[in-house]
Amino acid sequence: MTDPVIVVTRKWPESVEAELCKRYPSVRLNADDVPLDQDDLRDALQHADVVLPTVSDRLPAELFQPPIRTRFLGNFGVGYHHIDVDAAAAAGVVVTNTPGVLTDATADIAMTLLLMATRRAGEGERELRAGAWTGWRPTHLLGTEVTGRTLGILGMGRIGAAVARRARHGFGMPVVFHDNKDGVAVDGVPDATQLDSIDEVLAAADVVSVHVPGRAANRHLIDATRLKRMKPTAFLINTARGDVVDQRALADALWDGTIAGAGLDVYENEPDVPAELRALDNVVLLPHMGSATVGTRTAMGMRVLDNLAAYLDGREPPNRVA
Ligand code: DGY
Repeated sequence: MTDPVIVVTRKWPESVEAELCKRYPSVRLNADDVPLDQDDLRDALQHADVVLPTVSDRLPAELFQPPIRTRFLGNFGVGYHHIDVDAAAAAGVVVTNTPGVLTDATADIAMTLLLMATRRAGEGERELRAGAWTGWRPTHLLGTEVTGRTLGILGMGRIGAAVARRARHGFGMPVVFHDNKDGVAVDGVPDATQLDSIDEVLAAADVVSVHVPGRAANRHLIDATRLKRMKPTAFLINTARGDVVDQRALADALWDGTIAGAGLDVYENEPDVPAELRALDNVVLLPHMGSATVGTRTAMGMRVLDNLAAYLDGREPPNRVA
């Protein structure tokens, strides 16, 4: 394909946009970073050869109904639950993602949430900024120490393993985990214990960190029943996908003391965050910023460009998912 017409749905780091425009003459950027609605996305699929979307774009099956011109969708991000990849494949569209380059940044945010939730850092910051801090006192904002506490990981992929390493070696946390694959070895954490079920992990852990992909089968994997399996002193951390956790059930569990606290970076209907969660002090709420470092977002963009270059050269894109 010569001179493909390329649509980028959101603003990217400048250096990556510059590289994209240097390589290809017909690129439409989104300088104002206004999210595309369903009509805009349909229009892009009907008029561009290449569309480069991201997690904030919803691409359901109906958008892939003919006529469409797009042959390549290079997702800026590792998660692709927002794209109906079966419908894309059926329409002859190649889809790629950006695994690997955001592992450390996302694991760092999981640890940030773990520490903020257990040590009540969000509460402390809110209090101080509100001018309500009255000074040091022995019983002020007492939290939970994490050293030596058990970390439970659901989904031991790249990011789960990176969190396990940080917790084990940085904080001396024993690690238990569940993964659908049998006999998973955790790189750098040889003593991590694989348990047979999610429920066993929930019962054993002082902090549970979720790292399963956001596919339909994982929707509300953590529901009211599963939250009740956790210790009342335990914390839930979610940096994976919002709909893996039933937000309403979580808000209830945080409110009635079923669990002690939570830290979330992802939500079911972003950017909406339920008022029930925002009203609670024992949950830390971040705005989906797991991969938000200059280096990581640049690497993600360059990974999209690598996949696109391979596709346009007639090679197999390294991160093809459909
Ligand atoms: C992803 O890559 O899927 C993240 O959620 C955005 O970085």
